[in-house]
Amino acid sequence: MVCLGNICRSPLAEGILKSKLDSNKYIVESCGTSSYHIGSKPDKRSIDIGRKYNIDITDQRAAQFSINDFKTYDYIYAMDNSNYQNIVKLTDNETHANKVKLILEELHPNSNLDVPDPYYGGEQGFEDVFQMLDEACYQIVLKLEKIH
Ligand code: 4NP
Repeated sequence: MVCLGNICRSPLAEGILKSKLDSNKYIVESCGTSSYHIGSKPDKRSIDIGRKYNIDITDQRAAQFSINDFKTYDYIYAMDNSNYQNIVKLTDNETHANKVKLILEELHPNSNLDVPDPYYGGEQGFEDVFQMLDEACYQIVLKLEKIH
């Protein structure tokens, strides 16, 4: 799960998807394309909205996307078009580039929708982000259950 800072959107995406999958079968992690918040805890507003829905993300610490992640992970979900482009730019390996998906495409195919960056907004933005990620992660789980 990849956003810009790895403190608002992708920590929630990680926590939500982890809560829906068997941890013995799947590794779910998150990071940011930027180095802005490396080592930081998730934003308090993300921690709070997670807690509201019984998703504890307090142990997460922000990390930056690394080109090694192209090898480590089978699916790389970008929260928005800008981060999608910034990830894909890091590789000229087509197999690796094809691992990168825009997360809301799982919910609304062929729409190119962004999970909006809630960082500069209010708490409702975090509620909205939570709901769209919860629905998208549910679709990801259905897809993975068909494949594996
Ligand atoms: P995120 O939100 O990408 O969902 O973690 C942001 C967090 C921090 C900044 C931007 C977006 N920032 O500019 O510091």
